[in-house]
Amino acid sequence: MCGIVGYIGSNDIKNFLLQGLKELEYRGYDSAGLAVIEKDSMQVFKAVGKIKNLEEKTKDFKTKNFGIGIAHTRWATHGKPTELNAHPHLGEFSYVVHNGIIENYKELKTELEENGYNFISQTDTETIVHLFEDYYKKSKSPFEAFEKTVSKLDGAYAILLITKAAPDTIFFAKNGSPLIIGKNEKNEIFFASSDAPLIGYAKEVAYLEDHIYGYVNKEGIKTFLEKEEKNLEFKPLTANKELAQKGGFRFFMEKEIYEQSRVISETMMGRVKADKIEFEEIEEGFFTEIENIKICACGTSYHAGLSASYLFERLSKIPTNVEIASEFRYKEPILNKKTLFIVISQSGETADTLEALKMAKNAGLKTLAICNVDNSSIVRMADRTILTRAGIEKGVASTKAFATQMMVLWMLSLYLAQKRATLDKESISKEIDSMLHIPKVLVVETSLHEKIKRLSKRYLHGHGFFYIGRDIFYPLALEGALKLKEISYLHAEGYPAGEMKHGPIALADPELFTIALMPKNLLYDKIKSNVEELSARDSTILAISPLEFDIADDFIKIKEYNHYMLEYFEMMLIIQLLALEIATRLGNDVDMPRNLAKSVTVE
Ligand code: G6P
Repeated sequence: MCGIVGYIGSNDIKNFLLQGLKELEYRGYDSAGLAVIEKDSMQVFKAVGKIKNLEEKTKDFKTKNFGIGIAHTRWATHGKPTELNAHPHLGEFSYVVHNGIIENYKELKTELEENGYNFISQTDTETIVHLFEDYYKKSKSPFEAFEKTVSKLDGAYAILLITKAAPDTIFFAKNGSPLIIGKNEKNEIFFASSDAPLIGYAKEVAYLEDHIYGYVNKEGIKTFLEKEEKNLEFKPLTANKELAQKGGFRFFMEKEIYEQSRVISETMMGRVKADKIEFEEIEEGFFTEIENIKICACGTSYHAGLSASYLFERLSKIPTNVEIASEFRYKEPILNKKTLFIVISQSGETADTLEALKMAKNAGLKTLAICNVDNSSIVRMADRTILTRAGIEKGVASTKAFATQMMVLWMLSLYLAQKRATLDKESISKEIDSMLHIPKVLVVETSLHEKIKRLSKRYLHGHGFFYIGRDIFYPLALEGALKLKEISYLHAEGYPAGEMKHGPIALADPELFTIALMPKNLLYDKIKSNVEELSARDSTILAISPLEFDIADDFIKIKEYNHYMLEYFEMMLIIQLLALEIATRLGNDVDMPRNLAKSVTVE
C-alpha cells in the first residue's frame, strides 16, 4: 500500500522525508518520490525501486531553511511502477501525493483534458493536481481551490498537496486511507500514513477521521469537516517502532486480518458499480471465444481458485477446472486454445505457478493473472492482470491476500455472467448488493474475537482436526485447515462433509475435533446430517453457523445473511482468528512459522 510523509519546519526536510519513507517500507512499494519547497524553489525527485535509489538521486540536494516537503512510496494500482507514475505528481506549479484510489478519476480526467490539461502519467492521482490548479486559476484562493477539489473526489484518499501559490503551506485531506498529523514543541508539523515515521520526531499525534481536510503553515494547523472548522484531538505518541508498524497488534497476521475490511473496499473500488462490474485493465474482447477456464495456483491461492470454480460454474456457466500448479506442470496436460488460463498468486513469484503459466502461454492460451504484486514475474508474463490491492502481506500465513483474491474472483464470475448473459439484471444487482456488504462483514467485532480467544484453549491437543464444508465451503474448509497447520503445527485436514463417511469417520472419537462450516444459505440440511453423523460417533464438534445447533460442543454464531458469500467471508474471518489464537496460546511465532516461506521461488 502506498505510504505518505510530509513535513513543515526548519530542520532537515529531506532527511525527515527519506527516513520517514524508510519507516513505511513495510507497507510495500515499487517506487518512491519527494517534493520540497524551500524559499521559492520547488524541487522534485522520483525513483523506481528501493528508497536507496531515491537517496542516491537526492544526495546533492540539501535542505537547511524553513520549508515544506511531501513524499510517497507507491504501490502500483493504476499504471505500471515507472518513474512517470511515481508520486509526487506535478501540475504547472503544484505537487500532490496520494494514497488510495480516486474512483471517478476517468470522468474528471476527460473533463480536464477537454479543458486543455495534458496528463503525463497513467495514474488516477494526477487528476487531483490538475483539478486543483484549474480551480485555483478561477478563484485565486489556494484553500478554496483545494476545498473544491476534495469535494469532487469519490473514492479513498489521503492527500498532501503543495503549491507555489502558497509556498509555506501543505494542504491535506483524508477519506478512507490513513493519515496522521504529528507536532512537537519546535513548531514542526509532520504527516504520515502510520505512526512509525513520526517516532522520535513528533510528541503528539492526531489520527484524522474520514472527510477531514485542511492546511498547515507557520501559524499552525487548520482542519475542517463539511466546511466547518474542527479541532483535532492530539494524543501522546508511542515510542515503540515495532508496535507502531504492527498498528498495536501482537502480530502482522492479526493486523492483516483486521485490515481485510478496508483492503477489500479497495479491491472493489472503481470495479463494482451500482448495477455492473467493470475491469478497466481488461478490454472488451478479451474473454470472447472462451469455452472453459483452467485455474492453477499453490497453497492458499489454490483454495481461492477452487472456491472460484463453484462461482464460475454457478454464475457464469463456464466449465472450470482447478489444478495445483506443481501437479499440472508434469502431468502432460492437454491444453485447448479456447481455455482461459487463470493463475492466482499473492506474490507473483511462486515458481510452480510461474512455470504453469509459461506452459499455458507456450500452448497459445489466453492467460490472466490474479496477483497482489504489480510487476512481479507472473504479472509480467500473463497477457492480462487483475491486481488484488491487498497491500503488502507480511504474515507468512496468507489472510488478506486470500480475501481479496476471493473478491476479485467473485467479481470476475459476475463480470463473465454479465458478458455471457447467464444471469439476468436483477440477479446481478442482488449479487452486487451482497458484495457491497462484505467490508462490513469483515469488521472484526471485539466480542467475536474474545469468544474465539476463550474457545481456543480447548483446542490445543487432540489427535487431529477435520474442517468440513460442502460446495464452496469445502475449499474454505481446506483453507481453515491449512491456516491451522501452518501456524499451530497441529494436524488438520479439510474435507468435503459428504465424503467423511467414506473413510475419515473411522477416526471419530472425542479427541477428533470437527470444525463444521454450516451456512444457512447453501445445503444446510445436508451438512447438518453430516455433522450429526460425526457427533453420534463422539467427535468433538465446533459448529460455525447462523442457526443454533444443539448437538455442537462449541458454537460460534455468525450473523444471518441472505447470501452464502456473506456467510463465506464471515466464516473465513473466524477460521483465521481461530488459527491465530490457537497458535498464540501454543507460543508459536505466528508471523514466521517454522519451515515456511512467504514466497516460494524454488520448485
Ligand atoms: C507459500 C506461502 C503460502 C502461499 C503459497 C502460494 O507456500 O507460504 O501462504 O499460499 O506460497 O503463494 P502465492 O504467492 O503464489 O500466492
